Amino acid sequence: MFDVEKVREDFPVLHQEVHPGVPLVYLDSAASSQKPRQVIEAMDHYYRHLHANVHRGIHTLSEAATNAYESARERVARFINAPEPETIVFVRNATEAINLVAATWGRRNVREGDEILLTEMEHHANLVPWMMLAEEKGAHLRYVPLTAQGLIDLSAVERYLNPRTKIFAFTAMSNVLGSITPVAALVSAAHSVGAIALVDAAQSVPHMPVDVQALDCDFLAFSGHKMCGPTGSGVLYGRRELLEAMPPYMGGGDMIRRVTFEGFETNDLPYKFEAGTPAIAEAVGLGAAVDYLNSLGMENVHRHEQFITNYAMEALSEVEGLKLLGPPAAQKGGLATFILEGIHPHDIAHIADEDGIAIRAGHHCAMPLHRKLGIAASARASFYVHTTTWEIDRLVQSLQRAREIFRLQRAS
Ligand code: ALA
Repeated sequence: MFDVEKVREDFPVLHQEVHPGVPLVYLDSAASSQKPRQVIEAMDHYYRHLHANVHRGIHTLSEAATNAYESARERVARFINAPEPETIVFVRNATEAINLVAATWGRRNVREGDEILLTEMEHHANLVPWMMLAEEKGAHLRYVPLTAQGLIDLSAVERYLNPRTKIFAFTAMSNVLGSITPVAALVSAAHSVGAIALVDAAQSVPHMPVDVQALDCDFLAFSGHKMCGPTGSGVLYGRRELLEAMPPYMGGGDMIRRVTFEGFETNDLPYKFEAGTPAIAEAVGLGAAVDYLNSLGMENVHRHEQFITNYAMEALSEVEGLKLLGPPAAQKGGLATFILEGIHPHDIAHIADEDGIAIRAGHHCAMPLHRKLGIAASARASFYVHTTTWEIDRLVQSLQRAREIFRLQRAS
């Protein structure tokens, strides 16, 4: 039994008024999640008792910090069922993970005339690094089109894959439409033409069980800050053979085994990709976030979000003039993106904020998708482990108030 009111007690930020007498309703977890006290306390403990640089010292604190950092890596590896911790590279966020692959694997393997396959619902982090690579190499970008409901179907993917496709990089869940993609089937389709598959899991790892071995993906990228962890923590999982063959990304300390005036030898995995002093406290915080999510159970997290999404979509569809984007609740993750006839999404978000409700308005880092949908912007409410039905009711009331304000304005 998932006790959402008990879960809410773990999140200090939720228990505040954002304006005098107006309590916070946080519906913007897809942009960044809030942090439970377990994560805040783990980082506080680390800085109070354990901090030193990692992998360098032989003194007690340096060993303690190294153990804390590496134990976080082991927990992250288990969380996504990676075969070994060495296949987990700590980065700042999903964006950096994808840039790393484009700049190292991509530069080495993509040539003029090759194709890079993406989908029409990628956000900028999984578009721009490939645009940069394609421009440098003279490669072609292709985009799998969406169905009318905003889903990816396998037959469309199969039409776009061909022997020139070097990589298929796609989201596991759209941050705008919420559409969940059939990841394992898409990976297997990519492999059938000899392409590799990169999964942008920024919106899936925080919300549902993910098993990289079952998915059989080659790379998987996600951010810590969207899964109860701190900002500045992120992960690239990569298949060992691919990571071994890739050149390093940034140069500096820790990523080398030996340096002479003539050159350098790279270090073993995963350090080869972790130049310089890493974000140690952030990794510790991410490890604590993984423990926290495990204590709730990812199946329970997913089920709770499906329940809330279902409730939200039904409640929102009662608002006159509101149009929901994307597929029905059963095929989407924990968010509801919408437009409201005659009211700009920024005005909606502004009025919601007056009522203490945090939602996101704009293009959500996915401008090409909005263009394709024929709109400049949309409003998005996104949910997490602490979201309740009464918060959705508050949003609906606020949207009714927005409609009333604009109706009066038009009338005057
Ligand atoms: N891509 C993030 C979002 O959806 C920032 O809000």
